[in-house]
Amino acid sequence: DSYLWFAEALLAWYPRHRRDLPWRHTRDPYFIWLSEVILQQTRVKQGLPYYLTFSSNYPTVQALAAAPPDEVLRHWQGLGYYSRARNMHYTAQQVVAEFGGQFPDSYARLLLLKGVGQYTAAAVASFAYDEPVAVLDGNVFRVLARVFGLHHDIAAPASRKKFQQLADQLIPAEQPAEFNQAIMEFGALQCTPAKPDCMFCPIQSSCFAFQHGMAAELPVKSKA
Ligand code: ADE
Repeated sequence: DSYLWFAEALLAWYPRHRRDLPWRHTRDPYFIWLSEVILQQTRVKQGLPYYLTFSSNYPTVQALAAAPPDEVLRHWQGLGYYSRARNMHYTAQQVVAEFGGQFPDSYARLLLLKGVGQYTAAAVASFAYDEPVAVLDGNVFRVLARVFGLHHDIAAPASRKKFQQLADQLIPAEQPAEFNQAIMEFGALQCTPAKPDCMFCPIQSSCFAFQHGMAAELPVKSKA
């Protein structure tokens, strides 16, 4: 069975709705990684000024790696989860010390960085290198659970495989970067957690949750 309709619908939706964000104008793995670290557990509106601060104060991974820890933490002030700032700094130092200052150039090698997990590796590999590896974040879980009627508990680690399997079938080989941006943006703007805009959704007629009136029930998430 072909899922091509899904990528086609999202890729048609995306250019008409996407926000113009600075990390969408670069293919530099350092800036892409920086944006993803800042945007973890953070809204775009809140993260954007921090991205601008870090990218201008530390225009290279070498500059970030060489910065004094207290200065990095000072720039992070107000963003919360300060362990993220320390991990970010450590990862920059690892790129300099172990990779000659060049970001690893594939999904598999990005995972060799201690502070880089599957989500960030997929984001950098697809956005910077056009590697066809699907990103899975909260937005993507929600869109896939609703559209395809996946009832797996997204809080259960075992569910990840099911979502990854599906997402890897959905991602088009020709436009992996555009597709990953599109599905995350679709989750952020159209298929929102509360009050999704189903009435003006281009895939409502193909959506399990819309057909079954279950948008509010999906994704399934147990309270841990
Ligand atoms: N949240 C996490 N990554 C993002 C990205 N690349 N664009 C917009 N929001 C995001």
